[in-house]
Amino acid sequence: MRAVQTREQPQAVLPRRHILDLNDFTREEIETVFRTTDGMKEILTRQIKKVPTLRGKTVLTLFYEASTRTRVSFEQAGKILGADVINLTTSTSSVVKGESLVDTGRTLQAVRADVIVIRHASAGAPYLLAQHLQCSVVNAGDGAHAHPTQALLDLYTIREKLGRIEGLKVAIVGDILYSRVARSNLWGLSTMGARVVLCGPPPLLPAGFPPPADAVVAGGPALPPVTVETDVDRALDGADVVMALRIQHERMKGGLLPSMTEYARRYQVTEERMARAKPGALVLHPGPMNEGVEISPDVAHGTQSVIQEQVTNGVAVRMALLYLLCAREA
Ligand code: CP
Repeated sequence: MRAVQTREQPQAVLPRRHILDLNDFTREEIETVFRTTDGMKEILTRQIKKVPTLRGKTVLTLFYEASTRTRVSFEQAGKILGADVINLTTSTSSVVKGESLVDTGRTLQAVRADVIVIRHASAGAPYLLAQHLQCSVVNAGDGAHAHPTQALLDLYTIREKLGRIEGLKVAIVGDILYSRVARSNLWGLSTMGARVVLCGPPPLLPAGFPPPADAVVAGGPALPPVTVETDVDRALDGADVVMALRIQHERMKGGLLPSMTEYARRYQVTEERMARAKPGALVLHPGPMNEGVEISPDVAHGTQSVIQEQVTNGVAVRMALLYLLCAREA
């Protein structure tokens, strides 16, 4: 595998085979992803954005759930780096004949996939695959649990635009209960020294949330320190970054929100509400957006919005991750 030519320091490798969540990522690992992404962004600016770095490697995307940004950006990332990219559509695969997740993974490994990128409706599905396979597994979103590559591109975008993450106030507003983006961001932002405020109506906050500071899960902290707020104006007060989240209707069991009009009235990120944030505060959204519900169109497309940059950075971050994972084997 050829090293990527960048203006930065030589890249380290990540001390991990899989990317499953950010809860065990160190600050140094996240910095390594940032440095590698800087080099990848340079490749994206070239007239001919194609390098042979991952020639001979195979990236396989296995999406059991709908996706636009994540699947396309992994495909684009792999192709720019010269890898062969195979997209398995589960609706036309042997999954519909009842093949199990592990058997599907073993089959893909047997065709010599180096990296399997999986999205699944069940939390933990990528972990199960990782336990049974020797190739790298990347979690592209598992149920309401984690979406680490989205969080890494969010972190990178914040650091690129504001020059730092340490000490920033980041308000994440919307459906926290079902948001894998919020969970992975909470870990990543906290590791990088940001102060996170999660905000939503009580039915969209996890029960018993936040857990006591000394709560542990499997030997580690249940969650990093976090402030929970049900008043959006207070959450946005003095914020450096505001991240709006979509209502995840596809995961919601029962009518937790009786009126979307009322929800939008109380929780929509609007120009008026953004006036409470710091001047120059960034607006992020992982997409897909429901404009007029969690975010107003003028904010979504306004000068503070970095939503399109998030998508572009998603390609660069995923290039970096594919490179770092494959570099382990080189
Ligand atoms: N942010 C995100 O995961 O978008 P997609 O569902 O389009 O991949």
